[in-house]
Amino acid sequence: MAGRVQGKIALITGAAQGLGEAIARMLVREGARVVLTDLNAAKVEAVAASLGADKAVAFAQDVTDEAGWIATIDKAASAFGGIHILVNNAGISGGTTVTETPFDVWKKVHAVDLDSVFLGCKYAIPAMAKTVKETGSGGSIVNISSIAGIIAAHNSAAYNSAKAAVRHLSKSVALHCAKQKTGIRCNSVHPVFIKTPILDPLVDRFGAEEAYAKLGRQIPLGAIGEPDDIAYAVLFLASDEAKMITGAELKVDGGISAM
Ligand SMILES: NC(=O)c1ccc[n+]([C@@H]2O[C@H](COP(=O)([O-])OP(=O)(O)OC[C@H]3O[C@@H](n4cnc5c(N)ncnc54)[C@H](O)[C@@H]3O)[C@@H](O)[C@H]2O)c1
Repeated sequence: MAGRVQGKIALITGAAQGLGEAIARMLVREGARVVLTDLNAAKVEAVAASLGADKAVAFAQDVTDEAGWIATIDKAASAFGGIHILVNNAGISGGTTVTETPFDVWKKVHAVDLDSVFLGCKYAIPAMAKTVKETGSGGSIVNISSIAGIIAAHNSAAYNSAKAAVRHLSKSVALHCAKQKTGIRCNSVHPVFIKTPILDPLVDRFGAEEAYAKLGRQIPLGAIGEPDDIAYAVLFLASDEAKMITGAELKVDGGISAM
């Protein structure tokens, strides 16, 4: 039986662990081939190797580096013969209250969480439009924002700002791609707390069980999420099942933003 993204080629950033790795495994399971990138070359190469050389390749990439993006798009487009799907997933948490956030931390969080999404869209869209035209299979950009891009917290000034901007940038990209008739859609995904290494600082402080329970108590559904909760949302938006959906925000938040 054909998979839900059968025959498509995806580029996924920050794929060495956590959500990026789960998204890579999900898209491959559903018939895609994937190009994986991360700052951590050894780890992302191990993820690609575990998926098989015919299904996945990996490259080192710093998503804040413009020249690196140009080179990555080139390498990605030639690895399997094009790009249909871009998942801008690489990101960092960080920052604290507005008065306590050092300016260099503010800039770093915006570079990794926001500039990367701008650069990824800017350089991938021409390559993706070409692939869509050549293959007749639809294109999709999925930007991983956060529920923190919709609900603010007193101690996340930089992260709130960067993730909110990703939400709005995604809508601008969606409208541009529609107007240019590229065949590419663009949407943002907004996870609440998910069990990945990004939560390690809290896990180190309280232990996994207590840390997850503490966070889970803030969520109407009563628990934090698993990486596949996000991978399923990305799979849907990446697939042609979502061919009428662009400029949308998909919250995967256990109901927290409904309060
Ligand atoms: N896990 C959560 O609770 C949660 C909630 C909301 C949003 N998110 C978002 O999901 C995305 C993935 O997060 P995660 O939980 O898997 O985190 P993670 O820390 O487990 O993984 C992030 C990956 O991004 C890579 N990375 C960091 N900076 C990079 C750079 N400059 N260039 C290339 N790669 C870089 C890291 O090496 C790592 O492999 C992030 O954008 C994050 O903000 C996560």
